[in-house]
Amino acid sequence: QNERESMFIINEWAAAHFEEVLHNHEDGIAIGMQYFRSRGFRDDIIRKFRLGFDLNDREQLARTATDKGYNVDFLVKTGLCYHTDDGRYVDRFAGRVIFPWFGVSGKVVGFGGRLLDSRTKGVQQKYVNSPDSDIYHKEQQLYGIFQGKKAIAKEDCVYMVEGYTDVVSMHQCGVENVVANSGTALSIHQIRTLHRFTSNIVLLYDGDEAGIHAALRGTDMLLGEGMNVKVLLFPDGDDPDSFARKHNAEEFRQYIADNQTDFIQFKTRVLLNGVTDPTRRSEAISSIVQSVSVIPNPILRDTYLHDCAQRLGVAEATLINSMNKYIRESR
Ligand code: CTP
Ligand code: MN
Ligand code: MN
Ligand code: MN
Ligand code: MN
Repeated sequence: QNERESMFIINEWAAAHFEEVLHNHEDGIAIGMQYFRSRGFRDDIIRKFRLGFDLNDREQLARTATDKGYNVDFLVKTGLCYHTDDGRYVDRFAGRVIFPWFGVSGKVVGFGGRLLDSRTKGVQQKYVNSPDSDIYHKEQQLYGIFQGKKAIAKEDCVYMVEGYTDVVSMHQCGVENVVANSGTALSIHQIRTLHRFTSNIVLLYDGDEAGIHAALRGTDMLLGEGMNVKVLLFPDGDDPDSFARKHNAEEFRQYIADNQTDFIQFKTRVLLNGVTDPTRRSEAISSIVQSVSVIPNPILRDTYLHDCAQRLGVAEATLINSMNKYIRESR
């Protein structure tokens, strides 16, 4: 039995333990379950994502694991606990509600823990995640891929959101073709995982500065991998979680269908809206052409450029020249 296998085993045990605490322990029910209820999470969804609670007793996890015959070294290797200088094993997630991360095949690879107590906000991070380990590289994982992969393949489309609660709430409202990249930049690894199930992706990000930048950066990587990219930024103050709680699946899908834009419209709006200075306009147009230039399919590139020329009022030949220059440079 190798080390990775032991790490999966202890993660699985811990996930089951956190679930057990949430559903059956007095504090789990009064604190953790109460929190999920206050967010409107239903029981079936809490079970589906195996949400849990880690008691606010910082040495409880290592103690319980030892009692059950588990080797605490693996609690440290998986990052569930850290080993202090004075020899104690302290829970990383103590007092937090738990969102386990599953690999594509359903193994527990890591955890995210959310703070409940708003009084300690600002002092402590809202979310804590497992540190990278032999079985968990956060930038490679997709939250919700295990629960969502069937729907992603069936709908032939994936919605990419920012966070845990967005994924959970969308499932609850009946939209299951969704994953989160959890506030980090999209990685090639994540994109290739998604590409096994679909070529169509819609970025559903918060409409703040961070969301806009994440969408701009993500777009070029996705295009370069041959994915079709649409973008929808939620109006200020809303995210997919808050939106899903106010709407049913049909309304949610309709809203996306009505408000998503292709990447050219998106970049045009973000980079060109209200810009009249010729130099800045030409920089923005160059940036759009550069995005088109990374698309592997030449017919699709031409189609998009044709579109661009009409929408931006620039001669198509000029755009083609410019794009070919980008293609030559990137070789
Ligand atoms: N995130 C993180 N660490 C943080 C903040 C955020 O890992 N300190 C990740 C989490 O996966 C989080 C996502 O980024 O879900 C999006 O962050 P945010 O929009 O702040 O959180 P929400 O998911 O909207 O959480 P909530 O609704 O519970 O406030
Ligand atoms: Mn890593
Ligand atoms: Mn945000
Ligand atoms: Mn959010
Ligand atoms: Mn939120």
